[in-house]
Amino acid sequence: MINIAITGANGKMGRVIYEIVSQREDCRISAGVDLNTEQYADFPIVSKIYDLPEKPDVIIDFSHPSVLDDLLGYCKINSVPVVVATTGYTDEQIQQIRAAAEQIPVFFTFNMSLGINLLVDLAKRAVKVLGGQFDIEILEKHHNLKKDAPSGTAIMIAEAINGELDNKMHYVYDRHNVRKPREKTEIGIHSVRGGTIVGEHDVIFAGRDEVITLSHSAGSKQVFAVGAVNAAVYLCNKQSGLYEMSDLLGEN
Ligand SMILES: NC(=O)c1ccc[n+]([C@@H]2O[C@H](COP(=O)([O-])OP(=O)(O)OC[C@H]3O[C@@H](n4cnc5c(N)ncnc54)[C@H](O)[C@@H]3O)[C@@H](O)[C@H]2O)c1
Repeated sequence: MINIAITGANGKMGRVIYEIVSQREDCRISAGVDLNTEQYADFPIVSKIYDLPEKPDVIIDFSHPSVLDDLLGYCKINSVPVVVATTGYTDEQIQQIRAAAEQIPVFFTFNMSLGINLLVDLAKRAVKVLGGQFDIEILEKHHNLKKDAPSGTAIMIAEAINGELDNKMHYVYDRHNVRKPREKTEIGIHSVRGGTIVGEHDVIFAGRDEVITLSHSAGSKQVFAVGAVNAAVYLCNKQSGLYEMSDLLGEN
């Protein structure tokens, strides 16, 4: 039985992780960490990671970027693998995550869903075929409670596309005060916030008289939670290193 601790246990994703784990027989939630320590299930929730009652086999983090120092510190000291699913990190924090992976197994992705990871592959393939001739715009839509913008997933898609184009592209997030035609080397990234939209991402390739749109829509938060729990179980017997969705999918 794998003991999982959740950081952000009382958040929307933390609670869905608990639901998904409850349906499995190979793992259980042993404890949670959250500023809100209200207990809603059969595991304790503490406000600081260093107060966890016992060392878990793996941690799943859906919390806030401000938790990162303590999260990585605890995992390194105790040799605990960690699935980092929070978004909104600075570049320095992403470097911190990469550095931690030299000491412990770290699974890090801005999007835990299988479909988005396929979308990224399809977008890379489209770039290869279209050879940078089409203008690329990314549109993301999320619920009105999301704090960061653009979404980590939109950035992940842009980075994957940019990599295919030898990192020649630059990102344009806002055009409201731009008074010039679009440059060829732009990837436009646009955010919409409203209602209860779980997460939608469109990658638009606009060429002369034709447009191709790759589109993914998440119907519920469960798609992310299922991916995160699979990642946690996967990580348990791994060596230190940085793992991502393609590693998990490659093994299935
Ligand atoms: N990678 C993915 O596939 C994916 C999918 C969905 C959400 N997310 C990300 O996961 C994060 C959480 O999403 P959510 O919708 O559950 O948010 P949420 O606001 O509902 O939950 C976050 C929880 O973290 C807790 N928290 C905040 N600061 C804390 C601190 N310093 N110490 C302890 N607990 C703290 C909050 O009390 C809250 O309960 C966000 O960054 C979101 O963008 C990632």
